[in-house]
Amino acid sequence: MIYLDNAATSFPKPEPVYQTLDRFARTQLANPGRSGHRMATEAERTLDQARHTLNQFFNGEEPERWIFTLNCTDALNMAIKGVVNPGDHVITSDLEHNSVSRPLVAMERSGMISLTRLSSHDGYLDPDELRAAITPRTKLVALTHAANVLGTVQPIELIAPVVREANALLLVDAAQSAGVVPIDLRKTPIDLLAFPGHKALYGPTGTGVLYVGSRASVRVWREGGTGGDSKHPVQPEELPYRLEGGTPNVLGIAGLAEGVRWVAGQTIEANRRHEVDLLQRVVDWVEGNGDGWRVAGRWEPATHVGALSLIPPDQDVFPSQDLALGLDASHGIAVRAGLHCAPYIHRALGTYPDGTLRVSPGPFNTSEDIEMLLKALTEMTAGVL
Ligand SMILES: Cc1ncc(COP(=O)(O)O)c(C=O)c1O
Repeated sequence: MIYLDNAATSFPKPEPVYQTLDRFARTQLANPGRSGHRMATEAERTLDQARHTLNQFFNGEEPERWIFTLNCTDALNMAIKGVVNPGDHVITSDLEHNSVSRPLVAMERSGMISLTRLSSHDGYLDPDELRAAITPRTKLVALTHAANVLGTVQPIELIAPVVREANALLLVDAAQSAGVVPIDLRKTPIDLLAFPGHKALYGPTGTGVLYVGSRASVRVWREGGTGGDSKHPVQPEELPYRLEGGTPNVLGIAGLAEGVRWVAGQTIEANRRHEVDLLQRVVDWVEGNGDGWRVAGRWEPATHVGALSLIPPDQDVFPSQDLALGLDASHGIAVRAGLHCAPYIHRALGTYPDGTLRVSPGPFNTSEDIEMLLKALTEMTAGVL
């Protein structure tokens, strides 16, 4: 299988991640903190070390502010529902994944909040338009860092100070950027940072993270056991336990921490560059092919992650879903077609409801993989276009 669906989840993982998962599962997989014996203490130490690793990697305020979640969706829900109050105004954008859009639209529909959705231009948000949309009631600005359909990286360094000046909170969905675009929490004033562990940080599925900065007070999310202080009648106030209840995915977190260490040992820019260089070949093919294929959004290699959406020449003849099925069945190539859980940007692009064909290479893909993809697409459409 030629796997070009890393924007959904990364595959394969770096070898040290597999080794850590195997070793941890065989020797250390106890319930962290719960039972005080050596294995439980070791498992707890793994969680602590993972928080330290994340704090160092993203230059956060302190390790306790890193909350482990089920996935990025869980982290985003925790953040949005944990800080927004009735009567608040929230700003988001048309680039968002449903894990941001759906909770916000549900709150808007229930009459709880008012919502402004900024329009992107060729895949990019304009900080001046954000500034103009802020009102005295704006509590939260919830934006993606890198758009999952288009791969375009938003100017978060310009956006964050605008939100801070307005005394609102900034939630950044870093699902497509964490691990491939540098994020320095001390330089960029982000209050809440959500990301999955299973994409460009190379942990397994079932892992996600929410960073809670000191300006954000997030309501208790799920209540239950935290492994310590069982006397307390309600969830403890202090982080991370305030937001973590129940047995955590300590195996997954061990793998995630190894993934972060692996990324930290590379240059982030080199990984992003490798993926963008592979996509440049796809863009060149689109531009040279003359059959009417298009690239969605503005292609700017310097501000792009390794995800690119292609619009087929004629969706009636070649629906993107059929192309993806054909690539899988006849050529052993995995890509993702459709709306990618982000319907608003497809409406803006005019690709709703058919969607696009998204190609997302990872660090282990080669230029041969891309040539195979382009050969297959050429063969599948030959004679009809
Ligand atoms: C931009 C963006 N946000 C959120 C998510 C949700 O991530 P998860 O599947 O880990 O919940 C995704 C997943 O593809 C995404 O691309």
